[in-house]
Amino acid sequence: MLDRYKSALKKAEEKYRRSAAAAAAAGILPYKSGDGCWQESPFDGNGWWTGGFWPGLMWQFYVFGGDEFFLAEARRTEAILTEEFRRFTALNHDVGFMYLLSCGADEKLTGNAQAGVDTLHAASLLMGRFNPRGFFRAWNGPDQKGLAIIDCMMNLSLLFRASRRTEDPRFAAAARIHADTTLREFLRPDGSVSHIIEFDPATGARVRELGGQGVAPGTQWSRGQAWGLYGFTLAWLNTGDRRYLDAAERIAGNFIAHIRPDGLTDCDFCQPAETDRIDNMAGAIAACGLLELEKTTGREEYRLAALKLTDALLDKCCDWTDRQCGLLTRCTASYRDDGAGCHTNIVYGDYFLTEALAKLAGTDPMLWL
Ligand code: GLY
Repeated sequence: MLDRYKSALKKAEEKYRRSAAAAAAAGILPYKSGDGCWQESPFDGNGWWTGGFWPGLMWQFYVFGGDEFFLAEARRTEAILTEEFRRFTALNHDVGFMYLLSCGADEKLTGNAQAGVDTLHAASLLMGRFNPRGFFRAWNGPDQKGLAIIDCMMNLSLLFRASRRTEDPRFAAAARIHADTTLREFLRPDGSVSHIIEFDPATGARVRELGGQGVAPGTQWSRGQAWGLYGFTLAWLNTGDRRYLDAAERIAGNFIAHIRPDGLTDCDFCQPAETDRIDNMAGAIAACGLLELEKTTGREEYRLAALKLTDALLDKCCDWTDRQCGLLTRCTASYRDDGAGCHTNIVYGDYFLTEALAKLAGTDPMLWL
């Protein structure tokens, strides 16, 4: 059984050795596959929140097979991302996604001191977004001062790591305040989570829930459920606070109950039955979170659910040919197509599928901690 995942990882590595060379030759930071080439992000250039997934993929392949090409490609794109520190205006709370998987990975895997400094720089940028009323501000628009989103649970690891590196508790303290707010305001009684909550930025009072990338306020955007599942698991692993583990298990229970019979993942668990809108990235992220949950709780049901998700992606939704550069198909950025991609290959789908395969093959360097 293990061999299945190891050989899938090997095939992914081989495909990427061919297709990543095209990205390197073009000098770009890929966001998705299209028309037989890698394409850059449609928004915010190299400052778009997904920039870390490409170097993260390269580090996964480097750890798996030791090929120096992947190390060089990770470093090439890490340099593109650290350039964004100077532009600054495109960066938001997603600096965790961007810099843990690039500079953070480089420091963790090679001891690169400058990469360690750059990771702390990113953590300091995230700290600059802390509203002492209890949350990290997600985005930069003038009307977005009070918005916090579930995805941010994944970014908190950058802060926990900064506290460990500097022995300064401030980073972790702010992360825990945000995690507690998320526990109180985002987690619903049925184990689902909201995507966006608006707070009054002056008082911290809850104003309302917004719909975000799902169907509507109150529905269950599946990628948001996956961010909550994996994010609270990471908060537990970072702190040892059982309330975060309980939250992760409640979200996992709800997610598992909504896995489709074919093992794929609807874009929103509340979407109309006749809607055929899949987001395989949600399934891949959830598989990673579930495998971490299984490791920490020993509960077999999480592994079985992760295998169901991963097997479905491998059996039904991987393009192993060279017709498209990337691997995972039917990835959807938003329930309502916002131009970021619908039923297509998107880089973070490939990242999380690869991370899940690496966990199953025993090579995952766990770049989130
Ligand atoms: N973090 C943004 C998204 O999942 O689309």
